[in-house]
Amino acid sequence: MKTLTRKELINMYFDFFESKGHKVIPSASLIPENDGTVLFTTAGMHPLVPYLLGETHPSGRRLTDVQKCIRTSDIESVGDNSHLTFFEMLGNWSLGDYFKEEMIPWSYEFLTSEKYLNIPTDKISVSVFEGNEDVERDNVSAEIWESCGLTKNQIFYLPKKNNWWELGSGSGPCGPDSEMFFDTGKEKCSDKCDPSCDCGKYLEIWNDVFMQYKAENGKYTPLEHKNVDTGMGVERTLVVYNGLKSVYDIEIFVLLRNKLEELTNKKYEENLKEFRVILDHIRTSVFILGDEHGLLPSNVGAGYILRRIIRRMIRYIKNLGVENSILESLANIVIDYYKDDYKELLKNKDIIIKGLLEEESKFNKTLNSGVKMFNKAVSNLNGDMIDGTTAFKLFDTFGFPLEFTIEMAEEKNLKVDTEGFKQKFKEHQDLSRTASAGEFKGGLADTSEMSTKYHTLAHLTLAALKEVFGSNVYQKGCNITPERLRFDFPLDHKMTEEEKKQVEDIVNKHIDEKIDVIKEEMSKEDAINSGAEGTFSDKYGDSVFVYTIGNVSKEICGGPHVKNTGELTHMKIIKEESSSAGVRRIKVVME
Ligand code: SER
Repeated sequence: MKTLTRKELINMYFDFFESKGHKVIPSASLIPENDGTVLFTTAGMHPLVPYLLGETHPSGRRLTDVQKCIRTSDIESVGDNSHLTFFEMLGNWSLGDYFKEEMIPWSYEFLTSEKYLNIPTDKISVSVFEGNEDVERDNVSAEIWESCGLTKNQIFYLPKKNNWWELGSGSGPCGPDSEMFFDTGKEKCSDKCDPSCDCGKYLEIWNDVFMQYKAENGKYTPLEHKNVDTGMGVERTLVVYNGLKSVYDIEIFVLLRNKLEELTNKKYEENLKEFRVILDHIRTSVFILGDEHGLLPSNVGAGYILRRIIRRMIRYIKNLGVENSILESLANIVIDYYKDDYKELLKNKDIIIKGLLEEESKFNKTLNSGVKMFNKAVSNLNGDMIDGTTAFKLFDTFGFPLEFTIEMAEEKNLKVDTEGFKQKFKEHQDLSRTASAGEFKGGLADTSEMSTKYHTLAHLTLAALKEVFGSNVYQKGCNITPERLRFDFPLDHKMTEEEKKQVEDIVNKHIDEKIDVIKEEMSKEDAINSGAEGTFSDKYGDSVFVYTIGNVSKEICGGPHVKNTGELTHMKIIKEESSSAGVRRIKVVME
């Protein structure tokens, strides 16, 4: 087989599916909007869920795409041969159109045809769902594979654990799948060796999901329309096809590691773990910072994951003995490599570089003293457990994510008292009277608390916009996540730097003034007569809540809000763009 580049693979996939009547659609954002169940887009299927459940897609019922994805559950494994936190996934979609009878022969054709991947038939193995009490054994798929030319011993029946696809949240469209593997020709590691074994004989390249159920609270109901969702990991397929030893041998990583060797004077082969963590993490952070719904490092939600990734990378760079900043040179390679396919990277280049450098400089201020404190704790240790107070201090004062401390401890064969950490975290919340009903989530500050703050910030922002642009301004749209506020409002021009600054200054002044936020219940009529703002008043019942912030703002709103504006930290407009004709969209974060 000849070698294949990323671009060739993607084009080949699109050509094939276009020849089968599919439309190429662009990758969706890495940060799902209006979906509280996940922090990142984890599979090509994710952005298409509404269409898999029956909504009409504007591009039709046969779609194909390459989707940027992030999975961070295995972040500690990054550094081995195969784990990545960011990857691209090729996919094709039948939205209530074709099903197994078409999809399996197409998969076979794409894998084996000379015109496409041209993999010898005997190098392919597949798995199908063995069935359980909810769903029958997938004999249909097995028969179709046989009719394509596979023999019975190339077809394996596997349980739900291996051959069922649903989103991590356990709800939404789902169904049995059939996975395709490249058989490397290695001896079976035991009699039981099959494609579910990770001994390296079978390497997965593609997954056809036959989505025919909707999962809800552990119950499966048949979907009216049957769908197909397939996923082929770009990086992994390149590794298999090109016979590479590890995923870090693909083109982008070779470019990055050459640069890293030059910048550090160290050799990749002699520093595998450090190099791989840096190569993976720089690519992931560039894609998160540069995303069309990009965000900045923070202590909550997706922003916290980004912070962990950047800080972990910085620690590994330091482990290579590098003291100067090399993030920008590395980021530029990523941006340059992907810029044609992901236009947002070039557009957001300044944001990406600034985001990396600011986080680096923040972390640099505390990293050395934090490491000193960690080492001191280690040398004073009785036993093998670092106590929760130390871990919390490292988190709170030195900005060490908990997972980061755990990793440093593991390098010395030590453990961290995570329960003790959580206890301290909670005490701290109680002390600062910011504790709320939400529970501690793996090192994340409480997300509902941040959403509440952003909610109040939205009211202050609207008031400031009115002050700067006149009372005609109203809230056209508003979307809140624990990391940011997105706010749409009518305006006939792009905001100037000065106007942005004015809005920020007004809001921040009201934050500094520590104004009480008063909640009252009243009839809708009284509320409107009192002059309360309520763009969406139609959707309220007869009795409404009115939130008043001094003489700054009065809005009909369901809440929740903070009790005093002093609970907020200063805000900044990080992005301003057109949302539609005559409507501007700003993204606002609290520092
Ligand atoms: N959703 C399936 C996967 O991610 C197929 O695209 O593997």
